[in-house]
Amino acid sequence: MNNQFYHNNLEDIEVQIWEELHQSTKSANTPFHQGVLASINDNVPEQRSVIVRNVDISEKTISFNTDIRSLKIEQLKINGTVSWLFYDKTLKVQLRMYAKAIIHIEDDVAKLAWEQSRLSSKMCYTTQQKPGSFINEPELIEVNKTDVEPELLAFAHDNFAVIETKIFAIDFVFLNRKGNKRAYFDYQSNIFKWRQV
Ligand SMILES: Cc1cc2nc3c(=O)[nH]c(=O)nc-3n(C[C@H](O)[C@H](O)[C@H](O)COP(=O)(O)O)c2cc1C
Repeated sequence: MNNQFYHNNLEDIEVQIWEELHQSTKSANTPFHQGVLASINDNVPEQRSVIVRNVDISEKTISFNTDIRSLKIEQLKINGTVSWLFYDKTLKVQLRMYAKAIIHIEDDVAKLAWEQSRLSSKMCYTTQQKPGSFINEPELIEVNKTDVEPELLAFAHDNFAVIETKIFAIDFVFLNRKGNKRAYFDYQSNIFKWRQV
């Protein structure tokens, strides 16, 4: 049994959650590598899958890359409160994380993320039509190009943003045969508590 969440120490569980999230940025095969981020779109919850690119354990932040022209940007400008959903089937852990979003465009955070991005990822920011626009036929982008015109890369760069989310609470659920567990980690009041599942 290699599961780290069978014990009942809340402080250790909280540390392990962040370590698992941090590990996920290093491997695309880990379930926490991909999360579902929800924002508020005119009173309607709007969810989408995104790739977790950076986890800062001490700052309690989780970041992903996006296109500044995407619909989520306007939603986040109006209401920056977001929530994450993660589930790891092997760990048997669900995480709901509540956060405030910070949009980084052309600052040091965005510059570093751009430098760390693969060319194929950068190509995703080269669509002529804005993400979410209704179009007559799919605009197909060749992401595996190896030779890209500087103008096209500059256009992609102009469309690139990093969304950093500062976590203010976590709802943790661990479902297993030995007994289900749920806990709440509140960073605003710094209180960690068990919860009924
Ligand atoms: C597996 C997967 C990973 C994705 N990763 C990202 C991502 O890292 N950033 C992003 O903006 N969109 C990503 N998307 C696309 C989003 O889910 C979403 O369709 C897009 O961002 C538009 O969302 P919006 O209209 O709410 O802005 C991903 C989609 C899938 C299926």
